[in-house]
Amino acid sequence: MSSAAEAGPGSALSGFDDREFVLAASGVTKSFRRRGWRRRRPLRVLVDAAVELRRGEVVGLVGENGSGKSTFMKILVGNLARGGGDVDRLGTIGYCPQEPILYELATPDEHFELFGHAYDLDVATMEASRDEIYDTLGFADHRDVRVEELSGGTRAKLNLGLALLPDPTVLLLDEPYAGFDWDTYLKFWDLTARRKKDGRSILIISHFVADEERFDRIVHLKDGRTLDE
Ligand SMILES: Nc1ncnc2c1ncn2[C@@H]1O[C@H](COP(=O)(O)OP(=O)(O)O)[C@@H](O)[C@H]1O
Ligand SMILES: [Mg+2]
Repeated sequence: MSSAAEAGPGSALSGFDDREFVLAASGVTKSFRRRGWRRRRPLRVLVDAAVELRRGEVVGLVGENGSGKSTFMKILVGNLARGGGDVDRLGTIGYCPQEPILYELATPDEHFELFGHAYDLDVATMEASRDEIYDTLGFADHRDVRVEELSGGTRAKLNLGLALLPDPTVLLLDEPYAGFDWDTYLKFWDLTARRKKDGRSILIISHFVADEERFDRIVHLKDGRTLDE
């Protein structure tokens, strides 16, 4: 859901006096054990993956399906153990997984309340942030509707909204606009531009890049390795 980490002494980030970097990963590796007849040879998904995110940067992470983008992001968030390499984070992280993790029987309001507790926000802060998210993404009229009755588009808004709730230093989004309609897509980029201006950073996974000019940089993941464009 979320994780907050400070760069401790000896971490890669502590070398930057101005704390310009909010996320720095290098030499990340990850293999999965295979089942069945191919059991003896592990699947090497990440061989040498790296990414750096500075304050106010919007970076894209692209690669073909199955290239390891989601695996890499889970490692960056701290939701999955890495095989090797270094990952340093600064501040709060908001993570929007590729598959929304929502409770079918709960309403958006109930989700925000639950995630507010998980992010350790006081009630007033949670409510102010929640109402701004409703406003920005335009789904306040669904706040009391159970998730099971929401459209795919509104579920996608809620999934993104939950990652935005703590106003995170770093926002990690795994294919966020797959479920967006055009209007939401544009709202999403408005929101991204505003966060960028406030010095917030965003890493966005996509299997293609439609609006290249909206990104500061694009990192490609291929054969387990990242290449800066
Ligand atoms: N928990 C897991 N166990 C075994 N294999 C996995 C696991 N998670 C991902 N994989 C495999 O790792 C590869 C990369 O997956 P993923 O990171 O989801 O790629 P992408 O997000 O780029 O489409 C795929 O071949 C996938 O099947
Ligand atoms: Mg993926």
